[in-house]
Amino acid sequence: MASRLLEVAILAAGQGRRMRSALPKVLHPVAGRPMVGYVLDAVQALRPDRIVVIVGYQADRVRSFLGEGVTYAHQEAQLGTAHALLAARDALGRGEADLLVVYGDVPLVRPATLASLLDRHRATGAAATVLTTVLDDPSGYGRVIRDPTTGRVLRIVEDADADADERAVREINTGIYVFAAPVIFGYLETLAPANRQGEFYLVDVVAPLLRDGRVVETLSAPDPGEAEGVNSRVQLARAEAAKRAEILAGLMASGTTVVDPSSTFVDWGVVVGPDTILEPGTILRGRTTVGAGCSIGPHSYVEDSVVGDGCRVWMSVVEGSRLEAGAAVGPFSHLRPGTIVGERARVGNYAELKNSRVGRGAKIQHHSYVGDAVVGPEANIGAGAVVVNYDGRAKHETSIGAGAFIGCNTNLVAPVAVGDGAYTAAGSTVTRNVPPGALAVSRVRQETIEGWVERCRPGTVSARAARAARAAREAGEARETGETGETREARETGETGETREARETRDPPADAGEGGED
Ligand code: UD1
Ligand code: CA
Repeated sequence: MASRLLEVAILAAGQGRRMRSALPKVLHPVAGRPMVGYVLDAVQALRPDRIVVIVGYQADRVRSFLGEGVTYAHQEAQLGTAHALLAARDALGRGEADLLVVYGDVPLVRPATLASLLDRHRATGAAATVLTTVLDDPSGYGRVIRDPTTGRVLRIVEDADADADERAVREINTGIYVFAAPVIFGYLETLAPANRQGEFYLVDVVAPLLRDGRVVETLSAPDPGEAEGVNSRVQLARAEAAKRAEILAGLMASGTTVVDPSSTFVDWGVVVGPDTILEPGTILRGRTTVGAGCSIGPHSYVEDSVVGDGCRVWMSVVEGSRLEAGAAVGPFSHLRPGTIVGERARVGNYAELKNSRVGRGAKIQHHSYVGDAVVGPEANIGAGAVVVNYDGRAKHETSIGAGAFIGCNTNLVAPVAVGDGAYTAAGSTVTRNVPPGALAVSRVRQETIEGWVERCRPGTVSARAARAARAAREAGEARETGETGETREARETGETGETREARETRDPPADAGEGGED
C-alpha cells in the first residue's frame, strides 16, 4: 500500500491550570528544555509532510519558543482537545492523510513508539488508532473501556466521568493517536460537550466511529513512563527524573563517568566529552559544553559555559564563561559571565572573576576579585588582590601584563594598566599605570615604636609575652656581658625586684576576671 501523507498536530493551547503557574504548561522545562520541545523533536524524527501546532493560551510565548519551522493554528478559547484539533483543520492539507495527534505535555515520548503506532494504523486501515498503556496508578487519565468478550475498544472515559468499575481499569489513553484525515474532522464537528468539564473531548470520537462501523485500533506502549502526561508539578518532577536518567545514561554510554547519578543534573543538550568525570553534586545547565578528560565537581554548577579538555572545576560556580584546556578553578570560586580562563591558568580558592580574560598559565590563587580586566599570560595575582573596577557610577577596565606580579592585597584602581613583568608591592593601592618591569609601591613606610606594648598595654597577654621576650633577650645579653638580668633591670628602671613584684600584684592584668579561657 502506497503510504499516504503524514501530517502531525501538536496540541499546545491549554493553560495547564493544575500547574498553578503563570507559565503555559507546555513551556515548563524538563531538564532545562520546555517540554513541548521534546514532543516536537519526537514527531520531527518521523519526517512528516506537515506539522501544525495548536496554540492559544499565551500563544506568542509558545510560538517564540518553537520558532517558524512549523505551522500554527489558533484556538481562541480552550474548549477541549476535540475543539483544539478542529482549530487545526484549515492549517492541515485537505487531502487524504494519516494524522498523528500528540499532546504537548508528553516530554518522554519516543519516535520509535510513534512510528509503531503509525505502522499499526497503516497496516489495519483503521479510522483511528489510539496509543494506550497500562499504569499501576491510572488516576487522572482517560480509561480504555473494552468489550469484555471481544476485547475490542468501545470507548474512552475520562477520570472525572468514570464510574467505580471504569476507574478500576488500568489501561489508559496516552493522548497519542493516528486518525484518518479528513474523515475525522466530520466526526469532531458532531461532538457535544456532554461531560463534567463541559469540554469537547477528542476521546469522544471513538464511540461514533464505531457506531458507523469504522475500525478503531489500539497499540499498547511497552514503557508506561514514556507516555506519561504532565499535568501537575508532581508529574513534572517525575518527568524531570526520567529525562535526567536518560541524559546521564546517554553520557555514560559515550564515555563519561557519572560517579553518582542521583546527585548529578545535566540539562538537555549539554555536551560532555569522553573520560570526563562528573563528581557528585555536579549540575551542568543551559548551553554548556565540557571537553574530554575533565573533572567537574564535587559540588559544581556550570551554566552556559564552555569547558575545554583536561580542565578541573572543583566546588565552584561557572556562568557564561570559557575555560581553555587544562585550566583549573576552585575550590570555592565564582566565574561570572564574560570570563575566559586561558590554558593551564589557575583560579584558586575563593576568587571571583567577571568579564575578564585570564592569560595562559596565569595564577589567581587566593581570595581575589578580578572584574573587567585582562590578565596577561603567566601573571601572578597575589592573595587578596582586588581589581577596583567600579567607582560607584561606572565600570572601568584594568590590564595586567604578561608575567606581571601583583603583590598580596594590592588594590588596582581602574582604569589602570600594569605593564609586562611589572611588580606591585604587597598592600599597595595602585591608581596610576605601572610601566613594564617597574615596581609600584604605594603604602606608608613602616614605623616601629620599641617597647610600646609594655608601656601602653600593661597587664595584657601581649605585654606579658613582650616582657618575657625582653627578659630572654636581656638574659642572653647579660650572659655575654657578665651582668645579671635583674641588676640591669634595676639599673634601667631604678626599681628593685621586690617593689616591681608588689606593683604587679596590686595591678592585676587587664584581662583578669573577664571570663574563662575558651
Ligand atoms: C488527556 C485525555 C486523557 C488522557 C490524557 C493523557 C482528553 C479529553 N483527555 O487528558 O484521556 O488520558 O490526556 O495524558 O483528551 N489542549 C488544547 N486545547 C484545549 C484543551 C487542551 O490545546 O482546549 C492541549 C493542552 O495544552 C495539552 C493537551 O491538549 O497539551 C492535553 O490536555 P490536558 O488538559 O492535559 O488533558 P488531560 O486532562 O491530561
Ligand atoms: Ca495532560
